[in-house]
Amino acid sequence: MPATRGIAALGARARCEARNTAAARRSPWASPGRYKDMNNMQTGYTPHDDRAGVSANGGLGAQARGASGRLLPEIWMQDGAKRVEQALARLLCAEDDGETELMAAMRYATLHGGKRTRALLCLAAGALADAPAHMLDDVGAAIEMMHACTLVHDDLPAMDDDVLRRGLPTVHVKFGEATAILVGDALQAHAFLTLASLDAPGDNRIALVRELAQAVSAEGAAGGQAMDLSLVGKHVELDRILVMHRMKCGALVRASVRMGALCAIAEDAAHAALYCALDRYSACFGLALQVIDDILDATADTATLGKTPGKDAAARKPTCASIMGLQAARQFVPDLLRDAGEAVAPLGPRAERLAQILQRANAYLFKHAPCA
Ligand code: IPE
Ligand code: IPE
Ligand code: MG
Ligand code: MG
Ligand code: MG
Repeated sequence: MPATRGIAALGARARCEARNTAAARRSPWASPGRYKDMNNMQTGYTPHDDRAGVSANGGLGAQARGASGRLLPEIWMQDGAKRVEQALARLLCAEDDGETELMAAMRYATLHGGKRTRALLCLAAGALADAPAHMLDDVGAAIEMMHACTLVHDDLPAMDDDVLRRGLPTVHVKFGEATAILVGDALQAHAFLTLASLDAPGDNRIALVRELAQAVSAEGAAGGQAMDLSLVGKHVELDRILVMHRMKCGALVRASVRMGALCAIAEDAAHAALYCALDRYSACFGLALQVIDDILDATADTATLGKTPGKDAAARKPTCASIMGLQAARQFVPDLLRDAGEAVAPLGPRAERLAQILQRANAYLFKHAPCA
């Protein structure tokens, strides 16, 4: 079928700085003036691929690179995920005797697993735009904070009532429901504070904040989640499911890609074609991610998912898998991934990391749902 296609209060910041001044110096609110030259990104910064493997992984040998000298896809993704996790650990202050249970729960929600797909999308689009690596790390961390917020709230008893996430008890099971609600609230605030505190010119920071806010607004993830709950037990047309998926999952995917590019390239008339290509990529990939999630909910086991399987059917949620049928949904995904790849192919080798993320998703689906 064709694809139709930090923070925290100043007191917490002071505690962080006292605990780890080296880490705090790298925090976005601690060293102003690093990104002043946003329109001349050819100088004065370290692109991701050049720095990768030197800082985060303590030095990667020649075997980590292909014939072109570029990091192999899997190494690039591991390195990127690791750097974003280091940024998360720095931005969500380390626990100590004075640390609150809320911050401990926020770290629990963000630092234990996850495929880091949205952060990698940001890094990949940032690589395409030649954005500064340290800025991308923090923007990627902000995106992962927001993603974790949506997951923590999604798991609440009033929503999907899930007890397992990323192979661990969900936040409300471990810390209580009230704390889980506040974890989501605070992660959202910390995501915006991270963006607002970047050492970038005001216009860039506003563009990033707007992008992320839009993604989780009533027109984005929050609206999609409301639609998800309103459709329980109903038989609906596929078109409505696709709209819901584009909102509840696709909107943050789109923002992740755009935010990586926005770290270096303003969205102006001169770059309209670039943003158009990126949005077409995201529309297909964001939908593919949620369809994969729907398929695996129906077919995979707890060990694979790190979540309780069969939840959608048990909760009588209409999904792509239930409306189209499992086999058609399974065939839909490669179409979407192919369309996403075609959208960025005209951008040439600069888009290689975005293409590799599509390949990773395809391999993940093939490994866990090889039925087609
Ligand atoms: C789960 O997203 C929720 C969806 C929107 C599909 P992921 O499958 O990306 O979750 P993590 O971050 O890897 O745990
Ligand atoms: C959730 O979709 C999408 C979000 C906005 C978090 P699901 O409810 O299908 O995600 P999982 O399966 O719990 O990860
Ligand atoms: Mg849900
Ligand atoms: Mg859920
Ligand atoms: Mg699901």
